[in-house]
Amino acid sequence: MTASYPNTRLRRTRAHAWSRALHRETVLTPADLIWPLFVTAGKGVEEPIKTLPGVSRWSVDGIVARAKEAVDLGIAVVALFPNTPPALRSDDGAEAHNPDNLMCQAIRAIKDACGNDIGVLTDVALDPYTSHGQDGLIDASGYVVNDDTVAVLVDQAVNQANAGADIIAPSDMMDGRIGAIRRALEMNGHVNVQIMSYAAKYASAFYGPFRDAVGSGGLLKGDKKAYQMDPANAEEALREVALDIAEGADSVMVKPGLAYLDIIFRVKRRFDVPVFAYQVSGEYAMIEAAAAAGAGDRDALVLETLIAFKRAGVRGVLTYHAAHAARLLNG
Ligand code: PBG
Repeated sequence: MTASYPNTRLRRTRAHAWSRALHRETVLTPADLIWPLFVTAGKGVEEPIKTLPGVSRWSVDGIVARAKEAVDLGIAVVALFPNTPPALRSDDGAEAHNPDNLMCQAIRAIKDACGNDIGVLTDVALDPYTSHGQDGLIDASGYVVNDDTVAVLVDQAVNQANAGADIIAPSDMMDGRIGAIRRALEMNGHVNVQIMSYAAKYASAFYGPFRDAVGSGGLLKGDKKAYQMDPANAEEALREVALDIAEGADSVMVKPGLAYLDIIFRVKRRFDVPVFAYQVSGEYAMIEAAAAAGAGDRDALVLETLIAFKRAGVRGVLTYHAAHAARLLNG
């Protein structure tokens, strides 16, 4: 119930900075941010990613330095993605469950250096390990088969947990994988390893720079529409979320972010579960391109898009702007 003008003047509370601060409904802090990092082979290596200006792949030593930086900035979690050397990519993505793969090296190195000052989130899907760039195993027709893929993803997840991962984040969109991974984690003693499921992940045009970063883009023929969701669908997202919660997900993710704020809002309205958003590579690149073109102020664009996720109802956001945003927030 609102009185009418002039008894109500909504500009009254906007007149001064202290009042705007007092009436602010949503806050963003560094602890809301998850920082995705790309791991590459070697030592002392930094490889800038052309389509993701300002983001580099780092060898494990550099990843540890980034994790320490994240701790200092108050960022809660780093998310790891490997750029697997081409010679180690295969049809079946077997490198994914090699206990000494790049991911496991990076997880162990971060945990050795930072302990529980930071959480390590690891992506479960085969695309950085397959010679065909798909997230799972393919049959003769190129179709990504579900149940055999789930069996490999389970091995991949346990491998990451054995190396010290804190949050397993399956991004593959296979049916039934959350339950299978949860059971395997329990059986292997990883009772406190969380699962953040990429529950509603869309077949999106916003993933291009990421695929460059993990080196799968050039390998991928066709698309991922037979497992990732149709951008036209919202009800289906709620069914995906319901299944993943029932199978044991601790939190769920909506991905991409900005174009899917309505999905976040609907999930939050229906379920009492922590929801995260992934502001993906193409979204990051759009903001950087707009800023570089003089079409907007970079810092303001970054903070405005991140607060939009919080307003929509997320508990946190994965963003390549995490370190920059945390610096802005810390003053
Ligand atoms: C792979 C995966 C993708 C992203 C995260 N995990 C790409 C894809 O599904 O092709 C995208 C992240 C981004 O674009 O920043 N399973």
